[in-house]
Amino acid sequence: MENSRIYREVYDPIPYLIIENTFKEEELELIWEEFEFLNQPGKMYPAEGTGSAESPDGKILKNNKSVFLDELFEYNKKFSNILKINNSIVSPEVKIAFSKLNFGYNAIWQTNVHSTLINYYHDGDYYDSHSDSSLYTSLTFFYKEPKQFTGGDFWLSRFKHKIEIKNNMTVIIPSFVEHHVDKVNMKNSVYGNGRYSMTMFLYTNPSIQNGFWKDEYWKG
Ligand SMILES: [Fe+2]
Repeated sequence: MENSRIYREVYDPIPYLIIENTFKEEELELIWEEFEFLNQPGKMYPAEGTGSAESPDGKILKNNKSVFLDELFEYNKKFSNILKINNSIVSPEVKIAFSKLNFGYNAIWQTNVHSTLINYYHDGDYYDSHSDSSLYTSLTFFYKEPKQFTGGDFWLSRFKHKIEIKNNMTVIIPSFVEHHVDKVNMKNSVYGNGRYSMTMFLYTNPSIQNGFWKDEYWKG
């Protein structure tokens, strides 16, 4: 059965976009195949390995496992199921829905690069309040159903606003809005039954936009 995306516009406490049924069944199968591969012992990085957000006194704010796919598949992105599929997060349809929320969100049309981080949260894992260095952040949540953990919800920290996660649901926010993930409590200890997420950081890189200065212009 075809599952089509449902767009939900939220305006309180800030405008943000929710997409339900983000990926189709056949895409989910490919995504899960890659999750199972990446989450084998010793592959994904602990919190220190992926440029994690830090508090002003240098404390790493998260405890989970993650990997940047663009780094892992740097020389050939087609080897990643996920990187072949996840461009649909930055499709014109999504950009229209997001930019309609607020006049300040029009800058999503200027974003021209993104990077993809895969995260796995097991029992006791969390990510404390932080903001991201990109312009917009898209997060898609995944777990095996029935859900085998409590917690692991996504919060807009400053507003004490909880976004209850759902499997295959995406949230898109401006990256400067502080957010956190509360602690995951597993109902069983089977590794892999916890909370996966795919974070996409959307940036504008001026050097690859027409009309911007490029260093090679010096060479005449
Ligand atoms: Fe973040």
